[in-house]
Amino acid sequence: MREILIKPDIYKYKTFPEFAEEFGIGERDLVLTTRLLKEKYIAPALEKGAGAPGDIGAQILVQEDFGEGEPTEEMIEKMLPAADCDSYDRVIAIGGGTIMDIGKIFAIRRTGSVSDLFFRRAELFRDKELICVPTTCGTGSEVTMTSVAIVKEPSGGTTKLGLLDEKLIADTAVLIPQFLEEIPIRPMAESLIDALIHATESYLSPGRATITTDTFAEKAIRMILSAMCDYRNGVDIRRAHADEMLTAACYAGIAFLSAGCGLVHGMSYPLSGKYFVTHGAANYVFFDAILRHYDACDPAGKISSFRAMIADALGCDEQNAIAALAELEDALVPVKKMSEYGACSEDLDLFTDSVFANQMRLVDNAYAAVGPVEVRELYRQVL
Ligand SMILES: [Fe+2]
Repeated sequence: MREILIKPDIYKYKTFPEFAEEFGIGERDLVLTTRLLKEKYIAPALEKGAGAPGDIGAQILVQEDFGEGEPTEEMIEKMLPAADCDSYDRVIAIGGGTIMDIGKIFAIRRTGSVSDLFFRRAELFRDKELICVPTTCGTGSEVTMTSVAIVKEPSGGTTKLGLLDEKLIADTAVLIPQFLEEIPIRPMAESLIDALIHATESYLSPGRATITTDTFAEKAIRMILSAMCDYRNGVDIRRAHADEMLTAACYAGIAFLSAGCGLVHGMSYPLSGKYFVTHGAANYVFFDAILRHYDACDPAGKISSFRAMIADALGCDEQNAIAALAELEDALVPVKKMSEYGACSEDLDLFTDSVFANQMRLVDNAYAAVGPVEVRELYRQVL
C-alpha cells in the first residue's frame, strides 16, 4: 500500500511581507482570506510593491463577503463564481481551517456542484497550484488531504462532511508566526486543543498509525502541553510561543495525514453541522469523555504509552494523566457541554444516527471499537 508521509514543501517566514516578496504574489494569484487579515497584513504588503515590479494586484476574495463562520455548501457555491477559473494559476489560502478548506476547492476543476464533490458524485481534477498559509495553530489543513464543509444531507438536515483526496493536498505550506499574535485567546485556545486532538487521535489510531505518525504526534503533543503549562503560569503564549504552536499544529497535521482523525471528530461533526459550533470548540466538548472511554475499554493498549507521555510532560502520576490533561485544558479555556450550544435530548438519537450514516471513516479509526449504544452514551455524558 502506498503511503504519503509528508507532502507539501513547508516554508517558514517571520512576517507576511517576506513571504509575499519571495513568492512574488501578483495578478495571476487568487488570495482567499478574511477581512481582518486582508486589511491588517495582506493589502498593506502588496500595496508597498512586494513581488516583481508591476506584479502586484492579486485578486483577493474575502470570506465574510459570502458568509460567516464555518464553511458551508451555500458559502462555497457563492464564492466560486466570484473568481473566473481562467484568471488565476495559484490559489493562496491565508486563514484558519475554513479558508484553507475552501482554498482546496478553488484549486480543483469545477466538475460539479459543491454537493456533487462532497458526496463524490463528481470526479476530482486538480488544476491549480495551492499554497496554504495557516493563521491559527489548530487545523493542520495546510498539510492534509481533507476539506471539510457543512453540507445538506439527503435526509434534509445539515452535517459536516470531510472530502478526502490526495488531489486536495497543498503544494506548499507556509508558516508565519506573526499571524498568531492578534488572535483572541478563546479561538486560539480552541484551535490549539484541536491540534492536540489531531495528534492524539492519530497517535491512538488502531490501524493506521505509522512511525511518521508517532514521531510527529508525540512531538506535537509535547510542544502543545509545554505551551499550555506556560499559559497556566501566566505567560502570553501568543507572543512567547507563536512559532512553537504553529509548528506543533503543522506536525499534528502531518501525523493525521498518515493516520487520520477518529471518533472525536466524528462525533463533533453533527454538533457543528446543526448548531454551527466552530470546529475546535465542538471537538473539545468530546475529547475528555472519549479518552476516558478508550482508557476504560483497553487501558493496556497504546493508550498506556499516551498516558506515560502525558504524565512525563505534566509531571504527574500516570494513573492521573488523563484527568490532569483535562484540568490543563480547562485552565486554558473552560470546556462546555453540548446543551450550552443549544443541543437537547432529541439530538442524542439524531446525532448518533448521523455519525453512523456519514462518519464511518472516523468511527472505524476509533482506538476502541464503538457501536451506536456507546456513541449515544458518550453524547449523553456531554449533553
Ligand atoms: Fe480538527
